[in-house]
Amino acid sequence: MAQSTEAGAAETLSRSGVTRDADPESVGRDTDGTKAVPPLFQPFAVRSVTFKNRIVVTPMCQYCADEGHITPWHMAHHGRFALGGVGGAVVEATGITRDGRITPGCLGIWQDSHIEGLKAVTRLYHDQGTPVGIQIGHAGRKGSAAVPLEGARPLVETVPDQAWQTVAPSAIPLTADWPTPRALESAEIEALLAEFGHAAARAVAAGFDFIEVHGAHGYLIHSFFSPLSNHRSDAWGGDLAGRMRFAVEAVKAVRRVVPSDMPVFYRTSAVDSEDGSVTIEDTVALAKALKAQGVDVLDCSAGGITGASGRAKAPPAPGYLVPYAHTVRADADMPTMAVGLILEPEQAQRVVTDGSADLVALGRELIANPNFAYHAAIALGHPAPHTVLPESYAFFLSRRHIGKKTG
Ligand SMILES: Cc1cc2nc3c(=O)[nH]c(=O)nc-3n(C[C@H](O)[C@H](O)[C@H](O)COP(=O)(O)O)c2cc1C
Repeated sequence: MAQSTEAGAAETLSRSGVTRDADPESVGRDTDGTKAVPPLFQPFAVRSVTFKNRIVVTPMCQYCADEGHITPWHMAHHGRFALGGVGGAVVEATGITRDGRITPGCLGIWQDSHIEGLKAVTRLYHDQGTPVGIQIGHAGRKGSAAVPLEGARPLVETVPDQAWQTVAPSAIPLTADWPTPRALESAEIEALLAEFGHAAARAVAAGFDFIEVHGAHGYLIHSFFSPLSNHRSDAWGGDLAGRMRFAVEAVKAVRRVVPSDMPVFYRTSAVDSEDGSVTIEDTVALAKALKAQGVDVLDCSAGGITGASGRAKAPPAPGYLVPYAHTVRADADMPTMAVGLILEPEQAQRVVTDGSADLVALGRELIANPNFAYHAAIALGHPAPHTVLPESYAFFLSRRHIGKKTG
């Protein structure tokens, strides 16, 4: 690992075209002594897209889609964030095929009828000048599950008439008490890769600014990558190169159809909590291979290969996954997005200034406080914190005087 120094911090910011000196002594002050925009609120440019600030809505399944289509809940959910001043957003895991959904409540992008609802979501963010991406993926052996509020167990146990046959690189169940998936034939693998391309094309038609390929949390792509779930001896398994092939080909299928100036993100489980699964060294090798195929940002989550997502060996604690983003950023020399219990403005800003990541993804903290960006702007000494909010809110907040400056 490298770059946790002031030099690393300066490099962090210049990579995105922001040249401000990130020396901790000078953060908060411009050279003329006036207040500077804090690093968390500096823009981040990747290909043709500019994130307004470094705070990004992490993908979060809402489990209330209507046969894969957007519902009013999704609009309200994203409306909270779109009006809260985030720098960008990623729409939840969205199935590239119907059987690629995790649950019957998951969003889909397997047919053109899904485009219209997704367009309404992109419009919501674009109205606020905020870029929005969509996470496309296939659930693999973790599919055909009940929604979390109904227990998240295999549907075959609870609502068998809604269950479907899951697929995976090998016929190995998630755990002994989950259904055994069917091992994919080579021709089926090729067909699924083509579906990644079709899904990406629909995402472009819906107006998304970038695509995130879901390669994490034990779903299909991750299950190809992990030696625990991939026991194939053909070209789709075996050594590290064989196990990363599905990920690389999925990215190639996406890159082939999206405009060359559109960023592609990839969410990885940088490590697993289990021995014998993905290591950070494997992930750095994967990151280099993906970067060579045009992936721009690695979104570094963890875990999920045999159970709950987000698990690393260390128990969850504030910022517990940030070091993985830092290692990938330094060793694969590519931009990263950090996630995982990022809760406080100063903590979020440190992720950027210490060179760990270019973007900071928040989930549950944004659910708790969709105006996190505004509050962070105040806490970090932004010279005009109200300006992170939509103009019509900013207008009134800038005229609110309650004895102390609140923005
Ligand atoms: C309700 C909910 C739904 C989630 N859905 C997804 C998803 O669709 N795709 C994904 O990669 N991660 C998903 N996650 C994981 C989050 O993106 C994030 O990595 C995790 O919540 C840790 O961030 P946090 O501590 O800021 O919440 C979900 C998390 C929550 C709480």
